[in-house]
Amino acid sequence: MPTIEQARAFYPEDDPVHGFSHVLRVYRLCEKIGKVEGAQIEILRAAALLHDVEGDVDVREQHHLAAANFAENILEKEGWQEEDIQAVLHCIRAHRFRNRDEEPQSLEAKILFDADKIDAIGAVGVARAVAYAVRAGMDVFAPPSEHYLSTGELAPGESQTVAHEYLYKLRRIKERLYTKTGRSLASERHNLMVTFFDGWLEEIGTYKE
Ligand SMILES: [Fe+2]
Ligand SMILES: [Fe+2]
Repeated sequence: MPTIEQARAFYPEDDPVHGFSHVLRVYRLCEKIGKVEGAQIEILRAAALLHDVEGDVDVREQHHLAAANFAENILEKEGWQEEDIQAVLHCIRAHRFRNRDEEPQSLEAKILFDADKIDAIGAVGVARAVAYAVRAGMDVFAPPSEHYLSTGELAPGESQTVAHEYLYKLRRIKERLYTKTGRSLASERHNLMVTFFDGWLEEIGTYKE
């Protein structure tokens, strides 16, 4: 398995959203949840360190597959057994919230999914959502259309904002978690995030010039 220092080199230094600071938080969360849930910690550690490597694919929607390919090469070179490599790759391929092609089946995949999503809520999640919007040149706030709120798809002429991300995705994350330990860690972060965003939406909604 790559060391933490080796893994750091696989990630861009200037990405506060999916860069190494996120990976390291997910790694620690995986260890914490994995110990309580009785998971195979080495599988989980490798999956956490490699789960967001962008590899050769430049399309964010496919990053789970690119990261899995990258991880396969690394672990093969290190002489990992095929069965263990496949266990790591399943965790990585199944970690995306929006892609249901491969759902987490193993305990380790469920824990990586939970840890990755827990890092998207709470105080860190709020900061990451805003950082993402700013980096992507998105507006921070615009009220989402009814169409977006029911489908997650933008209506014609509508732009994605942090409010969209919160109302459609972030406030539902805790319901999607798989493990008991993950759900319990998520609960406090969820409440903190809701307090912040609901306060924010209210302030903006009632603001009059
Ligand atoms: Fe990811
Ligand atoms: Fe991630």
